[in-house]
This record gives sequence, structure tokens and C-alpha cells, in this order.
Amino acid sequence: MSDVPAYLRLGLYSSFTKYTRYLFTLRSVSQPSKYHTLLLFRLSPKECRSDLQPPVSQSDQLFVMESSCPHLGADLSHAEIEEWGDESMVAVCPWHRYDFDLRTGKSETGLRACTYSVKVLDSDTSGTAQIWVESPGEGGWDIVEIRPVSEDFADPPSAISRNPVENSNITSSSSVAISEEAEPTTLFEWAVLILNTPNPELKVKRTRDAVLAFRTGKLRSVGRGVKNKPVPPDVPPREKDLNFVAPGKVTRRGNGGSLKSRIIILHALANIEQWAWDIIARFGDEKVAGQALPHQFFSDWVKVAEDESKHFSLLRRRLQELGSFYGEHTVHAGLWESARDTAHSLPARLCIIHLVHEARGLDVNPTTIAKFRAAGDQESVRVLEIIHHDEITHVTAGHRWFTWICEALALDPIHEFRENVRKYFNGLIRGPFNESDRRLAGMTPDYYLDLRGEGGVLDHKKEGPVTYNI
Ligand code: FES
Repeated sequence: MSDVPAYLRLGLYSSFTKYTRYLFTLRSVSQPSKYHTLLLFRLSPKECRSDLQPPVSQSDQLFVMESSCPHLGADLSHAEIEEWGDESMVAVCPWHRYDFDLRTGKSETGLRACTYSVKVLDSDTSGTAQIWVESPGEGGWDIVEIRPVSEDFADPPSAISRNPVENSNITSSSSVAISEEAEPTTLFEWAVLILNTPNPELKVKRTRDAVLAFRTGKLRSVGRGVKNKPVPPDVPPREKDLNFVAPGKVTRRGNGGSLKSRIIILHALANIEQWAWDIIARFGDEKVAGQALPHQFFSDWVKVAEDESKHFSLLRRRLQELGSFYGEHTVHAGLWESARDTAHSLPARLCIIHLVHEARGLDVNPTTIAKFRAAGDQESVRVLEIIHHDEITHVTAGHRWFTWICEALALDPIHEFRENVRKYFNGLIRGPFNESDRRLAGMTPDYYLDLRGEGGVLDHKKEGPVTYNI
């Protein structure tokens, strides 16, 4: 075995100059249940060690470490960077302020973060500078996601106030206004509060607040092991004035050629569910083979929750630009039935919602995007492409945590996936499949080809359809 570390090519240096931090996720080629999420810091020459003489090289400005703190797992994407002595730069964890040398990972506490060396090399063929990062282990690694840390929401911060009186125009089944004193103190509390928030704008604002608090260290507790853990609603309440109909009765979409058809398609996509907050609230306290879920589990689903809110904001704004609004057309709650069917089992939930329904989205999105492009609606194309790109990462999150559970329980993930689909899904897993994007998310064809579900757990005919508690 060679002592020389292997490197993997992250991409063109010029692609990493817009932001100062990037998260990237890797999956092992030979062991697809092995993932790493790493953080690339790009410092300015001035921020670099004072012992470096100008000009500071591009390589000297780049640092890579695991994105989870080795203490209790906090997300380091919002760590402060500080100089320590003359020769060290450290990342300071937002949770308990342990600091980790960016180059060696060492901390005065004795803990050590995993760091990886970085090189900037000119490509042999084009002469353009490329970033190479030391591999986190043996064998090949696929880069399954790269995203900047500082991704803004589509909308500016909402004007929604914490003052209940100022929020009186927000419709809801319960009091959605929160006082400063009532601000959640754990991630579980935030998740349940957001699930119980019917107003979508307030949901977006609360998601933004929760994500920021979680990443910056204002919120340091997930809430595990706390007595009286808040319970997520069976069916999240929705706004009173939304026109819910049975899945087969929603307004027909058309082929995307007309403005009306495009509005109806965007409206249907805006009707998202808060799967990620439900996973956090419902399953976050579970143990798998005696192990608590790692902190990365929460970082991943918080990111998915942030995306879901971002998508709603983008779609709502686009509907307004096209002369419509969210709520103008009928919506259905069919997908929540799958969530209810799998409310008792984290593996079943990951399989049915993320690896069946969300993976189906990867199949159909390119066709939808092509329709909008053919109609000349470039702005909607831009929005839909952002959503599609993010949704690949949501399926990846489903694959990551489903395979993590299978590995912990010494189960074959492909066999288990197919068993869960047979048990909790109704009907054929239909193509045509977007094989390349499914593969990027970890879903090789042996997961889904020739697979038919034999029905949900709940008999909705006897129980009645899912109704929203409004
Ligand atoms: S110092 Fe990072 S989680 Fe405690």
C-alpha cells in the first residue's frame, strides 16, 4: 500500500472563486454506503498565515476538512476563521468554540478534525488551474454534490413579525405568532413548530431562522433524550383557503405550451410537503443497532428543509411574475398518504418518499424543463433547473441514510429497498428512468427495475382520505 495520498479532482479553480466556502459530498465507488461531507475554505491572501510571504499561492489559500466537528458533530460550515499564533489558522466551531488548525486539524483540546491536503495544478491539456483534494480513503470516490455554503433564499427576509398583533393577517388554525420567549430551544421543537405552521411564508421564515440558528451555534441541541419531546402532527395543517381536491381532480396541467398550462405546472410544484422537518421530528431520536443517528443526519435534513423552502419561494415568485399566485389553483394531498403510511419506520420513509417519489421527480423534471424551454420561458427554466439539481441531492440524502441504516444492521440495501417498496408502495415503479441522475444519487438500476409495490399499510378507503386539520 502506498503512503502517498491519492487525490481527486474537485474542479476548475475558477469555479470556486465566487464564494469563500463550499460543501462537497463524496461517495465511495466500491462501498456506496460510505459518504463523506467535506468543507473547502478559500481564504483571501490577507487572511492566510502571516509567515507566508507574498505572493501567496492559490494552494496556500485552500483548506479542506470534514464538515462535522469531532467534538459533538456540529456543522462547521459557519465556523469562524481565526489566526492562532504566527503560523496557524484555525476554524472555531460555532457550538462550543473548540478551534481546529485548518492544516493539521489539531486542537488544544486534544481532539483532531480530519483535514485533507489541497493542490492547485495546471491541467496537462488546457493549462487551466484545477483543484485536487486528498482522497478520504482508499479506492475511487464520486463527487455527488458541490454547493456553496452561503446560498441565499430566493426572497429577501420576510417582514413577518414575531409580534402576534402584527401577524394578525396570517391565517392559521392555531396561533402561529411566536413571542421571543417561546422561541424553540431544540431542533425538534423548531421542526414541530414549522410543521404546525400553515402559512407558507411564515414556514419559510421559520425555516430560515431555524437553519441559521442551527448552523451558527445559537441552537446547540437537537433535543434528543429530552422529556416531553414535541410530537409532529399526523398531517400538517395547511391554509384554510387552499382548495384541496382528490389527486385525480386537480386542474389539468396541459403540455406546458400555453401560459395557463405553465402556471398550473408551477403551481403544482409549489405545493411541497415538509418531508425533511417531519423526518427530523419523527425519527431523530431513534437508535439503529444501539447507535444514535449521527449529527450529519441532522445537517443533511436541515439542508433539505432549507431547499424545500427555497423552492417554494422561487416558485411563488415566478407564479407572481406570470400573473398568478399560490392558491389560485387546486392542490392535492396525495403524497402525504405515503408519509403517513411510513410514519412508523425510518427505513420505509426513506425508501418511499425519497427513493421512490423524489427519485421519480428526477425522471420527469427534464421533460418539464424541456417544455418550458420550448415555450421560451427561460426564467422558469432557471428555477426548475435549480430545483432539479437540489432534488438530486435530496435523493442522495435518502440513499445515504438508508444505506447507513442497512450497514448498521448488516442488511443488503438493494434487497431491503425492494422489500420496503413491495410492502409500502402501491403499483409499478414506472420508467422511463433518468438513469444518470438516479445513479448520481446512488440509485443504480438494480434498486428499481422490474419492481412493483403491493399496497400501502393503511387502508385509506376504510380510514377515509388524508384530511388536513385546518
Ligand atoms: S466544539 Fe464543536 S460540537 Fe462542540
